[in-house]
Amino acid sequence: MEIFEEGHPICDEKPGGPQPPASHHAAEVPRQRAECATERYGLLLIPGKNVGGPPLSNEASDMVRIDLTRALFEELQAKIEFIHNAADLISQMQDDCIRAFQKAMPSCQDWTPLFPFEVLLDLFARTTAQILYGEELAGRDDWLVHTIYPFIHHLMLAPPAVVSGYHPSLRFLAKYFETHTKMVYKGRKQAEDILRPILDKYKMQRAMPGEKNGHGDGIRWLLERYDSLGKELTPELLAQDLLFITVAAIQTSAAVGCSILFDMMDQPASLSHIRAEISAIKEACRGNWNRQSLAQLRFLDSFMKESKRVNTFTQGTCSFLITMVFDRFGSRVTVTVQRMVVVPYRFDDGLQIPAGTQLSFPNQQLNLDDDVYPDAGAFKADRFLKKRMEDDPNRHHFASVSEDSITWGSGYHACPGRFLAQDTLKLLFIYLLDEFEFKHVKDGQTRPKDMYHGFAVGPDITMPILSRRRGLERSR
Ligand code: HEM
Repeated sequence: MEIFEEGHPICDEKPGGPQPPASHHAAEVPRQRAECATERYGLLLIPGKNVGGPPLSNEASDMVRIDLTRALFEELQAKIEFIHNAADLISQMQDDCIRAFQKAMPSCQDWTPLFPFEVLLDLFARTTAQILYGEELAGRDDWLVHTIYPFIHHLMLAPPAVVSGYHPSLRFLAKYFETHTKMVYKGRKQAEDILRPILDKYKMQRAMPGEKNGHGDGIRWLLERYDSLGKELTPELLAQDLLFITVAAIQTSAAVGCSILFDMMDQPASLSHIRAEISAIKEACRGNWNRQSLAQLRFLDSFMKESKRVNTFTQGTCSFLITMVFDRFGSRVTVTVQRMVVVPYRFDDGLQIPAGTQLSFPNQQLNLDDDVYPDAGAFKADRFLKKRMEDDPNRHHFASVSEDSITWGSGYHACPGRFLAQDTLKLLFIYLLDEFEFKHVKDGQTRPKDMYHGFAVGPDITMPILSRRRGLERSR
């Protein structure tokens, strides 16, 4: 069925989720036993406890995986079931996206230099703020601009400062002396203070029958999750969960968006095709985007996925020593699906691995393997569009996870926010490409080389580009 076709989590994966692409298929270890593994290795983009990085809780992960995804698909489901007046999340996001552009995008009356990563970070954060933090917080600069952004900034700078400046046995002291680490702890406290009265309001509303409107938001969903487990959601836990999700969501999405934009700039023919597709679907939906119309942007979707394949983004981490050696000798190994075996495990073919073994799967190498993707080195914008037509329309879209596509991870812990990332990035591109044009600072310049760090790789976010509002040339 057409509306069921694209990006539906039910169609997307087989029950139990896809397995890691290896000859040895490890079944996921039971969830409660896997927890300690995922805390250390599941999402290593959040640096560890010595710098005050918020840990991942099951409640936070499930909130994104279940409640947020359900809200995203509610509108689509309602169409299938002919239910009217369903909460329309994409339409709310579209309004937020328009407001985000007014706040975060320079007016660009002439060619204006900007850092695409920074602009996309701000746009993404503002477009998703209402979903993640609710209406009241979303509009407050003391939250987004003065708490969240500095928190992310210091959280990224703290680990190298602590690792290079402190002997492992003394790292617990960093929170008293190291500047960025102190700021991370301060940021958590600041978030807690802002959240305290807001959480009280949610708790009061919870007690009033009939007070719940709309699809909800991150705070309400978290409160309901903690309630259902008989646990008390304190301001401290709320701050920890929201900060974790924020760091997992915003930086990654901005980096991937920046990488896709670089590829679009290098491929004018594809860019024209994408613009034409946006304009045709926009006309059909009269500019009121919903999940179905976003899903009809098939060429854009294919381009985004091909961009993520050829220019892999991954945040795999490794020890300081390995990072130093890799960075020194320019090694190009990037990994994802980082796990630690918590109980001895025997694969189907007899291979046995002891508890404590660390596993991860090569990401870029898989993406650039000619046996997996014929002519893998070539950027073919319609590669995944053709695969969908020839193979299966329900697979091969940007947010899909499969044996041959593990940039979102794999199995139970595969990124639960990927549908939100997919839809938000599409909304941002609709406005960016419709209203602005882009070029490199120097003539003849192309996509800057990606930056490797340890097991991670991503676009060069230090590279400025020029942007100008479209149509100005004609109107002069
Ligand atoms: C383009 C943007 C994004 C990329 C590339 C990305 C990538 C990833 C990857 C590779 C993982 C680890 C998966 C695994 O180990 O199997 C992950 C986990 C996670 N991501 Fe994302 N992510 C993105 C956006 C988001 C967004 C928007 C959210 C929240 C709204 C989010 C929330 C999470 C959470 C909570 C986890 C931990 C899941 C768990 O361990 O159970 N991510 N992400």
